[in-house]
Amino acid sequence: MRLLITGAKGQLGEELTRVLRTGRADIAPVNARWTDVEFLRTDVAADGSTETLALDITDAAAVDAFLAEHAIDWVVNCAAATNVDGCEANPDLARRLNADGPANLARACEAFGTRLLHVSTDYVLAGDDPLPQAEDAEPNPKTVYGKTKLEGERLVAALAPSSVIVRTAWLYASHGKNFVFTMSRLGREHESVRVVDDQHGSPTNANDLAWEILEIMAWADEVGDEASGIWHATGAGTTTWDAFARKIFELEGLTSEVRGVSTEEWGAPAPRPAWSVLDNRRLRETIGDAMRPWEEALASFVAEEGLGA
Ligand SMILES: NC(=O)c1ccc[n+]([C@@H]2O[C@H](COP(=O)([O-])OP(=O)(O)OC[C@H]3O[C@@H](n4cnc5c(N)ncnc54)[C@H](OP(=O)(O)O)[C@@H]3O)[C@@H](O)[C@H]2O)c1
Repeated sequence: MRLLITGAKGQLGEELTRVLRTGRADIAPVNARWTDVEFLRTDVAADGSTETLALDITDAAAVDAFLAEHAIDWVVNCAAATNVDGCEANPDLARRLNADGPANLARACEAFGTRLLHVSTDYVLAGDDPLPQAEDAEPNPKTVYGKTKLEGERLVAALAPSSVIVRTAWLYASHGKNFVFTMSRLGREHESVRVVDDQHGSPTNANDLAWEILEIMAWADEVGDEASGIWHATGAGTTTWDAFARKIFELEGLTSEVRGVSTEEWGAPAPRPAWSVLDNRRLRETIGDAMRPWEEALASFVAEEGLGA
């Protein structure tokens, strides 16, 4: 059994690597299917070591050659253009990374008998419905990021119908830039911090997500195409960015005050969904939803990273 992690130097790619290497996540040990699994890591640029190989997912010929050379059972695609405002400013690049790249992977996976798990986002939905959205909710993205990610989902499903697509949201991990690290820094530097208070979502610890992705893949190996298509996997519970920030400060023992501001006042270039709450219905109805309540997963993260005061 051999896996390929693309976008391996990103938040999820690094966390998936760590979980596979250690054989455990905070939720539980990883599924026994992945004990001693061999895995390859690629990213757009190599890191100068033999740890991570270079593979640009937008280069179709390179993707074909890579899959032809290495006999791979599963590709987990963690590569993407994830900067929402950056995508708005550069839609061509967003389309290449979020739609063409996944299509290249899907085409090659189909040709070489490899199964693809592709990671997607809550931003494919409109984000204006306060009810948690299950996998069958009609997508209606409002941003270039969301539109290109939806294109990616649709191309993956059309070109490699056995693929598994996992949508997540509000992701943070020990590697890379994310809201938890940003708040930790700002909370130490300032007596008060302005944070948006009218967007709702479910913070997701990448350690939990990595574990759950490996569970889905193990089940997919058992049941075949029954596991294909879209899955939602986010931390349990719902909050707002300002309440998330307050929880981070509380857990870290920081006294900085969080002052709520509206999305309008904040004025980001790309629109942000007011309601980004995904319902992990498919997990619940099949293998079980082990994603922890977001506060519990955050507390583990703060402890593990030594962020407490
Ligand atoms: N972050 C979130 O809050 C969030 C929320 C919902 C869904 N998601 C989804 O979750 C997945 C993982 O997100 P993440 O936060 O782990 O992303 P990330 O940290 O931005 O990592 C993405 C990785 O892809 C690499 N990459 C960029 N262009 C590439 C190319 N042409 N070929 C190969 N690799 C390339 C990036 O390299 P460089 O850094 O060098 O560009 C980076 O290492 C994505 O599909 C994202 O859409 C994320």
